[in-house]
Amino acid sequence: MAEAAHLLQVTRLQKSYNVPVLLDFSFSLRSGEVHALVGSNGAGKSTFAKILCGLTPADGGEIRLAGLPHAPASKRAAEHAGVIMVLQELNVIGTLSVAENIFLNRLPCRAGFVQRSRLHESARAALARVGLGDLDPATPAGALGVGHQQLVELAGALSRNCRVLILDEPTAALTDPEIERLFGHLRKLRQEGVGIIYVSHRMDEIKRIADRITVMRDGRAVATHLSVDVTPDCLVREMVGHELPERGGLSERPAGPVALSVRNLSAGDQVRDVSFTLRQGEILGIAGLIGSGRTETLRAIFGADVKSGGETFVDGKAVKILCPTDALLAGIGLMPEDRKQDGLLMPQSIRVNTTLNTLVRYARAGGWLDTGAEERTTEAYRQRLQISCNSVEQAVGELSGGNQQKVVVARWLARDCRILLFDEPTRGIDVAAKQTMYELLRELAGEGKAVLVVSSELEELMSLCDRLLVMSQGCISAEFTPGEWTQEKITRAAFSGHLDRKVESHPS
Ligand SMILES: Nc1ncnc2c1ncn2[C@@H]1O[C@H](COP(=O)(O)OP(=O)(O)OP(=O)(O)O)[C@@H](O)[C@H]1O
Ligand SMILES: [Mg+2]
Repeated sequence: MAEAAHLLQVTRLQKSYNVPVLLDFSFSLRSGEVHALVGSNGAGKSTFAKILCGLTPADGGEIRLAGLPHAPASKRAAEHAGVIMVLQELNVIGTLSVAENIFLNRLPCRAGFVQRSRLHESARAALARVGLGDLDPATPAGALGVGHQQLVELAGALSRNCRVLILDEPTAALTDPEIERLFGHLRKLRQEGVGIIYVSHRMDEIKRIADRITVMRDGRAVATHLSVDVTPDCLVREMVGHELPERGGLSERPAGPVALSVRNLSAGDQVRDVSFTLRQGEILGIAGLIGSGRTETLRAIFGADVKSGGETFVDGKAVKILCPTDALLAGIGLMPEDRKQDGLLMPQSIRVNTTLNTLVRYARAGGWLDTGAEERTTEAYRQRLQISCNSVEQAVGELSGGNQQKVVVARWLARDCRILLFDEPTRGIDVAAKQTMYELLRELAGEGKAVLVVSSELEELMSLCDRLLVMSQGCISAEFTPGEWTQEKITRAAFSGHLDRKVESHPS
């Protein structure tokens, strides 16, 4: 059988910033194919995607789209050619409505006025395609959690006329049922002949959705496989260039006294009467669907959102937490899910960003800052978290998405809180670095810290946690210990609130 003609043909693409990022990178995409791109943090995946969609020019090499040269000078030009991308970093504009975000640059106008009813009607249709049919298109996008924002971005992409769709970690904040729904749409697009480039760190889902998989390492394509021919282990080996050390099993840590106790916590209608305890030396996980109230629970404990009721006890003593400063004084730290909101200073160095919250430690008499000590601390975290960069003086804005994430983690670790709340700590982090991150969290627990982890990846929670809570519709719907949990039981608990309340949006 003759091979389907290539929709996209990339030959020996070159790109450097100060150092080479893409080196002779070649790649092809057929129409009606999902071609996954995997590689460690900093391998060059997003850079390739940005070149395709006109955000940055290549230095050399050639791209052909349906046989014609493709060198878009802008995102608009790329979209005009039918190359649409959903970026790794969220790009919704918080102050605009959901509908405006979906149709940004394409607002339906008559005589210079936006036709709001037409806009909302189209937006509703686009939202229904990603399973958000119930969402009011007039909602400000900033009011949504990261998972929902990601779906809004997808809705925007899917509502365009596209030949090549590039998804850069589209599922990083999505949970399994939402991922299934997304895959349903991708399969439909594939049938319509759209070529899809799919970047992700989740090997299992790549195996499920991709037809072919290309592994990138240090800016080169090191291998391309048919998805059916390759195992996740093999992909990981090719990504890192060597065998990964054996995973440590669940270590037995004696749980200490209760460090944090939350009783009847409520906040808006997202957190309803939540009670739990967290012990010193324990890693407690929270699972649940997007919008189940996991993030809101952490934010309410930390004082980032207003509580409408409930009490918090630290080491058995009642504490009043009205704002994040109160929480920090009580020894509670929160690493939020939204990195941009967390205020990474993009033009500033890794060093400055890492020590930002702990500067007093480096202040010396006479108003001097001991940058040497700062550098040593940052260097230690760089090595521990395997942050790939030129030096700790490199601007954070120049790092790859996963490496930016590691800087956020470093900053929170440097803070040395006794009770640590992590919201999606490994979002966007590659397979090898995830293992390091798990070891780090285990070490922290080993030192007696109390660790709470919200994650959308069930496997991650199951391999990391000593105990697991499941949230559904703002309530804790189940609690499991390692012997008791199965993926199925947890998923059922995650949906239980929906079933009880007969919300019609639960999946079939
Ligand atoms: N604007 C820039 N200036 C300097 N270097 C940059 C810039 N953008 C990217 N880089 C570098 O290019 C390399 C590749 O980055 P890229 O974002 O393509 O990686 P990635 O494969 O998408 O990684 P991740 O999995 O972490 O998202 C990184 O080493 C990064 O530091
Ligand atoms: Mg990237």
